[in-house]
Amino acid sequence: GDSAVRASGATYLGATDAQAVEALAGGGLLILPTETVYGLAADAGDAKAVAAIFEAKGRPRFNPLIAHVADATEAEAIALLDDRARELAEAFWPGPLTIVAPVRDRHRVCDLARAGLDSVAVRVPGHARARAIIAAFGRPVVAPSANRSGRPSPTTFEDAVEETGFAAADAVDGGPCAVGVESTVVSILNGQVSLLRPGSVTREDIEDLIGPLDQGGDGHRSPGRLTLHYAPDSPVRVNVTAPRNGELLLGFGPDVGDPRWNLSPTGDLREAAANLFRLFREADREKPAGIAVAPIPSKGLGEAINDRLKRAAGYVG
Ligand code: TXA
Ligand code: MG
Repeated sequence: GDSAVRASGATYLGATDAQAVEALAGGGLLILPTETVYGLAADAGDAKAVAAIFEAKGRPRFNPLIAHVADATEAEAIALLDDRARELAEAFWPGPLTIVAPVRDRHRVCDLARAGLDSVAVRVPGHARARAIIAAFGRPVVAPSANRSGRPSPTTFEDAVEETGFAAADAVDGGPCAVGVESTVVSILNGQVSLLRPGSVTREDIEDLIGPLDQGGDGHRSPGRLTLHYAPDSPVRVNVTAPRNGELLLGFGPDVGDPRWNLSPTGDLREAAANLFRLFREADREKPAGIAVAPIPSKGLGEAINDRLKRAAGYVG
């Protein structure tokens, strides 16, 4: 891209692929676009660079990162994928699905990146430029969402630079993220398949392919599912039909409040997901007494949207 963004007293121009690879190879951090959200990326095998990610995000070190690879062959080099994992990989990669599986290569994804676990989270991003950069770099790349810990994930180049650009050696402008919520995380460990984080690859998509998910995997085994997460500065209330005085209402569907603040006037879950975090940030800039969000159905992608909303509101214990 050719955009110039000013943040923390510096100007960021979109990096070329070659500059992006150079940043990673030099042990630097890179703002990397994906189809879900922007990531803050580094060489997964470089413990110093990985430590700098935790530092920049203010992220607790017990919360492991996702290794991004260019294709399924590269994924198999770092993780042990069983038959069901391979089926999911074949159906949804490249795309917004992360698979947690036993780790095979403990060096290319260092201990700090895995938070010392014997498992590793891996995905092949659907964003073509992200894949091209990772392929050219030739090694797995860790990339947590480029927000500071607890804040909404950035879904535009500008928001990513504003959040963590201060720590990055370079930044790639990949345009606005098409999906807008983070990847679905599924763990396949000890013969159990659990949904750790809902996303745009839905529970239904997964069950249609490999049968029922195991119960009790709804988040508590994922170290990263903190109580207050994805949160804007203003307090958030969900399932709101009547906003209180001073609250800014994010609507969903026709005739719900101000069209400027509607997640999807046609009631389309994909559009709502793509708009959610950007509208959180824009709403914050208005400094309302609170942000109220209209009810959103929980089926399909709605599960992921409601998961992020509940956590932004601090309702998840
Ligand atoms: O869409 C995405 O996945 C984005 C883009 C940039 O790719 N990345 C992202 O990363 O959302 P992050 O670090 O914000 O979220 C990773 C999630 C966390 O909830 C973490 O706890 C979980 O994956 N995770 C990573 N490794 C894990 C493991 N070995 N076992 C269980 N959960 C794991
Ligand atoms: Mg995150």
